[in-house]
Amino acid sequence: PSILILNGPNLNLLGLREPHIYGSETLQDVENTCRELGSRHNVSIETFQSNHEGHLIDRIHEARNKADVIVINPAGYTHTSVAIRDALLSVSIPFIEVHLSNVHAREQWRHHSYFSDKAAACIVGLGTFGYEAAIQFAVRKVIPKTT
Ligand code: DQA
Repeated sequence: PSILILNGPNLNLLGLREPHIYGSETLQDVENTCRELGSRHNVSIETFQSNHEGHLIDRIHEARNKADVIVINPAGYTHTSVAIRDALLSVSIPFIEVHLSNVHAREQWRHHSYFSDKAAACIVGLGTFGYEAAIQFAVRKVIPKTT
């Protein structure tokens, strides 16, 4: 089985960017932890980060018939992107939405997501542990149903 972990804009600066909100771990740290966790469960983990909407969409298309689950933090695109939502629905891959911060405790406009109503699960406010929680959930509950 295979899980694709997608991160949207500005998450390349994780660890440096507003650490009081997003923590001090880097994206590299998070991706390494995810790969370790994956290998413990015999799941291959692919990772991709982009600051560009179209690149994220292309990567989702590439995952068609390959990835069993997508773990996605769409970052700022959460609140704007019909196109990324449509891409996820187009490939029919179940996805888990992850946000480091508790978006519901922040600005009103962060409360709406174009993804949540279609997600297999939504994780907010667990910090970088949210990605690990998403992988665990995928391994236990989502992959057994789809493979
Ligand atoms: C975020 C929350 C979004 O509102 C914000 O635009 C981000 C990060 C999070 O992980 O908490 O870039 O997705």
